[in-house]
Amino acid sequence: MSVDGTALPTWLVVDVPGGELAVEVLGGTLMELGAKGMTPVGDRLVAAWSGKVTQGPLLAEIRRVVASLAEDGLLPDDRVEAKLVEDEDWVGRWRRSLGPIRAGERFLIIPPGVEADPDPGDRVLAIEPRMAFGTGEHATTRLALAGLETLPVAGARALDLGCGNGILSIAAALLGAKEIVAVDFEEESVEETAENAERHGVGDNVRVERADVLEWTPPEPPYDLLIANIYITPILAGLDRWLSWVKPGGFTVFTGVKQGAEEAELLAALDRMKMKVLRSEALDTWFCAVCELAGA
Ligand SMILES: C[S@@+](CC[C@H](N)C(=O)[O-])C[C@H]1O[C@@H](n2cnc3c(N)ncnc32)[C@H](O)[C@@H]1O
Repeated sequence: MSVDGTALPTWLVVDVPGGELAVEVLGGTLMELGAKGMTPVGDRLVAAWSGKVTQGPLLAEIRRVVASLAEDGLLPDDRVEAKLVEDEDWVGRWRRSLGPIRAGERFLIIPPGVEADPDPGDRVLAIEPRMAFGTGEHATTRLALAGLETLPVAGARALDLGCGNGILSIAAALLGAKEIVAVDFEEESVEETAENAERHGVGDNVRVERADVLEWTPPEPPYDLLIANIYITPILAGLDRWLSWVKPGGFTVFTGVKQGAEEAELLAALDRMKMKVLRSEALDTWFCAVCELAGA
């Protein structure tokens, strides 16, 4: 296996020590390093990358962080293993082997091909795990879905900033949003969002654009709802402009933010913007805030 300098042909699969524990102490770092997904498997944590990633620097950084956590006693050892998997459907098969994922009270994410027995009233998200983020494995997606469920989404016009594979847009449409503009700067996200929306019968409600949300302006603001699962740095950089696209009395869901220092930064920024936090929740060290914009 070559591990230096090339764009990945398919998947780079890395496993690190620690299982569930590693999700807590290392999960955020792996996501920031571009992992498309990760799952504890026994006493290891398996994470996967695809697309334009240079493996040498990526693996060096993972090894550095793992070694430092092991030295501090936060991981059991510093053994990092990596392999290339030349199989486009590898992540799909991996996900299908893990079963359905519940999010909030009523969302059930069932990858096609997975056996599941939804309860009456469940809203099923039949998301095929591919390249874009949004399989439901990551806590932020589940937090955002749970947050969405608490809002009056029926009839809303919504923005989904950093849409990944479109899971939150589709969820909003299933909750009755009449129009959702989904945006992401990754080509694979735009393609998968359009395909997933069609597959869920909400293709007419979801419009997807490829853009950097820090430079983009949405069509025909204002909107009733803004959803952003997109990390603290873009949220802090974009917040003022983004909130100017929301109606007074409208709602927001922000996640992609770590518990602790990032959570405090987000809450301070929301407070400065006179946002009322209706609900906040944390899961697997990630934080989500559901808010209302003042002035209805
Ligand atoms: C954490 S994922 C969220 C995906 C999906 N919304 C979910 O909840 O699972 C963040 C997404 O934001 C996109 N993204 C990050 N920064 C962006 C930016 N400045 N402009 C547009 N998209 C961005 C990434 O490509 C990625 O698909």
